[in-house]
Amino acid sequence: MLCWKCPRSRCPLGASALTVSVLCWIFIYPTERSPDHKTVLREVLREPRGWRRNGTETASFRKLLNDCCDPSHLFSMTKVNTPLGENLWFDGELLYSLTIDNSTYNLFPQEIPFKLPLKKCSVVGNGGILKGSRCGKQIDEADFVIRCNLPPLSSDFIQDVGTKTQLVTVNPSIIDKRFQNLLWSRKSFVESVKVYKSSYVYMPAFSMKHGTEPSLRVYYTLADFSTNQTVLFANPNFLRNVGKFWKSKGVHSKRLSTGLFMVSAALSLCEEVTVYGFWPFQINLKGKPISHHYYDDVPPLTGFHSMPEEFLQLWLLHKTGILRVQLEQCDTASSNQKPH
Ligand SMILES: *[C@@H]1O[C@H](CO)[C@@H](O)[C@H](O)[C@H]1NC(C)=O
Ligand SMILES: *[C@@H]1O[C@H](CO)[C@@H](O)[C@H](O)[C@H]1NC(C)=O
Ligand SMILES: *[C@@H]1O[C@H](CO)[C@@H](O)[C@H](O)[C@H]1NC(C)=O
Repeated sequence: MLCWKCPRSRCPLGASALTVSVLCWIFIYPTERSPDHKTVLREVLREPRGWRRNGTETASFRKLLNDCCDPSHLFSMTKVNTPLGENLWFDGELLYSLTIDNSTYNLFPQEIPFKLPLKKCSVVGNGGILKGSRCGKQIDEADFVIRCNLPPLSSDFIQDVGTKTQLVTVNPSIIDKRFQNLLWSRKSFVESVKVYKSSYVYMPAFSMKHGTEPSLRVYYTLADFSTNQTVLFANPNFLRNVGKFWKSKGVHSKRLSTGLFMVSAALSLCEEVTVYGFWPFQINLKGKPISHHYYDDVPPLTGFHSMPEEFLQLWLLHKTGILRVQLEQCDTASSNQKPH
């Protein structure tokens, strides 16, 4: 029971609690589980070129996701899935809930605002493997492009990552770090989201208690400045169920990365999914060192996500023909395989 609690709360600092959390750590993160990059690289290089979608496998995986997590109804908060007065439990806190009052309820759209099913989707992670990939054009050819955590799309990067964006996620912590929680610099935030044109801005407003206020501020800021972006709040029930789904498949982390939440949604909402920039290792397929992100080399916080484990799950889906993981450069390898 205690071990079950650990991944959902910050580990306490008291001495006895520390013992418990150390035990939890060993229990939840056995070292041999974490695949090392050499093993993964060998495995990836062994896979034959020429990926093909398997329609049967894709459909049955979609059914699994629909059964566990119902993304087409629960992906974001809507008036339909969250009635006024509902007591909403946060998925990233232990026993914390919020009653949905009138003012919050009125920020939700009636239903998920996408015309489903989406056809071709690109889910773009921010991995350094995208740098120099020239995948921009291929990414933008999809009907629906999902990007994670307000990534830069300036001219230096367009060739590698494209610009088209239908949905961009925003972690509340970035609102604090980069925009002083919108207490002062609302205009610079508004300027910086212009690059996403008329995309949806997807925020986990009801996951951690400190995330709610900045998320609501993002909503009001974009509304007050009459921007073209629309905020969607992640539904914590969806996030919780997706977390359980991957846990049952062996992903042992405190919390899934935003990227895996988005891939999971895409696999249900889209007919075809290709993922880019999902490669959590510091060397590329040719063994050359690469940066952490395509735009900088700042390492992520350790111990929160388990990117190598997540990657192995994506790779399994790739091998089964359910989604395509793009790891190579785009101009030579893939564009001439495409029908158009
Ligand atoms: C799809 O996968 C199933 C089971 O893994 C296999 O039997 C079938 O031949 C595959 N179909 C195609 C078109 O590759
Ligand atoms: C809830 O909000 C709506 C629209 O803003 C308003 O018309 C209604 O009177 C409000 N109801 C309550 C109970 O505050
Ligand atoms: C919103 O989009 C329209 C049409 O694309 C554009 O003309 C307008 O400048 C945009 N508004 C803002 C605030 O970015």
